[in-house]
Amino acid sequence: MNDPSERVAGDFNMEVPTATPGEFQPLKLGALNIWPPVILAPMAGVTNLAFRSLCREQGAGLFVSEMITARGFLNGNRLTNLLASSAPNEKPRSIQVYGSDPIDLSEMVRALVDQGVDHIDLNLGCPVPKVTRTGGGSAIPLKPRLVARLVRAMTGAAGSVPVTIKMRKGISSELLTFVDAARAAEAEGVAAIALHGRTAEELYSGKADWNAIARLKDVVSVPVLGNGDIWECWDALRMMRETGCDAVVVGRGCLGRPWLFRELAQVFEGLEPDRPPNMGEVAGVMRDHAARLADLFGPAMGLRQMRKWTTWYTKGFRGSAQIRGRLHMIESLGELDELLGELDSEEAFPQSALRTSRAKRGHRQKVRLPEGYLDDLQDDTPPKGPHTPEEIAAYERALEGG
Ligand SMILES: Cc1cc2nc3c(=O)[nH]c(=O)nc-3n(C[C@H](O)[C@H](O)[C@H](O)COP(=O)(O)O)c2cc1C
Repeated sequence: MNDPSERVAGDFNMEVPTATPGEFQPLKLGALNIWPPVILAPMAGVTNLAFRSLCREQGAGLFVSEMITARGFLNGNRLTNLLASSAPNEKPRSIQVYGSDPIDLSEMVRALVDQGVDHIDLNLGCPVPKVTRTGGGSAIPLKPRLVARLVRAMTGAAGSVPVTIKMRKGISSELLTFVDAARAAEAEGVAAIALHGRTAEELYSGKADWNAIARLKDVVSVPVLGNGDIWECWDALRMMRETGCDAVVVGRGCLGRPWLFRELAQVFEGLEPDRPPNMGEVAGVMRDHAARLADLFGPAMGLRQMRKWTTWYTKGFRGSAQIRGRLHMIESLGELDELLGELDSEEAFPQSALRTSRAKRGHRQKVRLPEGYLDDLQDDTPPKGPHTPEEIAAYERALEGG
């Protein structure tokens, strides 16, 4: 048993008690029982098979793929297929889908169900201008009948496989969309609803609004999955206690910190979590992660993918800023090892790195909508998405999540 007096945590988390027996229940998604009630958030460029497998080995829960665009998938795009790929031991297998055409979505869901996928999430939170400008992403929940139409297409094709949606609060504080969109989705049979407590205008800035998550609990009777600002295992317990949500969705907090899932599993079992790894142990996880990326993408692309992770893993460790430039040029596991060897392997995990956003700047944006989009919110016409391979490729490059 670890010593609570040695807890490495933010000040306001020092006294948070671990879960008591029976305090929280497994998350039920169709026939799935997820324990602990913890979900790895879908993150583009992040939650590929390599990272999911690393997180899953630390603790249990549900580990969602990055978003897979329906058009790219149905066209058989090689990279899209790689991002959607899984391993035989990846159970349950969970995929996030991005699309705004009901026919594409139902076709994709049927194909995924045939492949044995156990859970499918629809991304309704993407704030990227290229997407909202056409009426896609976080613009969709402005039109609850359109939400209903897309969800119906998916649940109709999914059979017993649970379908969920993931949304933001809305476009802006004046245009909140989550309540009506959630009601529409619930009526069409979603198994749960995930809410990121920020608007598209807010992007990733400021503090996530957990009150909106509590409000959603009052509105729907399907499970609510709370998302936003789970940086430490203690935040998960606080979010569940304060909002009554049924599970937590962990995004940026686990970037370069896959052991957060071990800590989460421990506190939900009522245990004080292990201390975070020191630099030497972090280096071991980094080598493992790099090897998994190389397996998935091939050595050259895998190591290129690893470059951004090197910043996330070493954040706050002494001397890491000095080798960052060289870490961003690594081309082999050997080079990675050599550079990590320059850091003090005995250095304890820096407290300052617990609550730092490793991806996404803290700015806001003005959300772009199609001309006249707000004139008829009862309209359920699907937005025109990309169709030619060039359009799809440009669109996929622009996508970066919810
Ligand atoms: C690098 C990155 C990529 C993301 N990609 C996606 C995505 O593909 N689909 C999605 O629904 N949300 C995506 N998001 C949003 C996260 O799933 C999550 O909603 C958001 O980061 C808030 O949670 P957090 O405060 O725990 O980070 C992404 C976020 C980040 C940081």
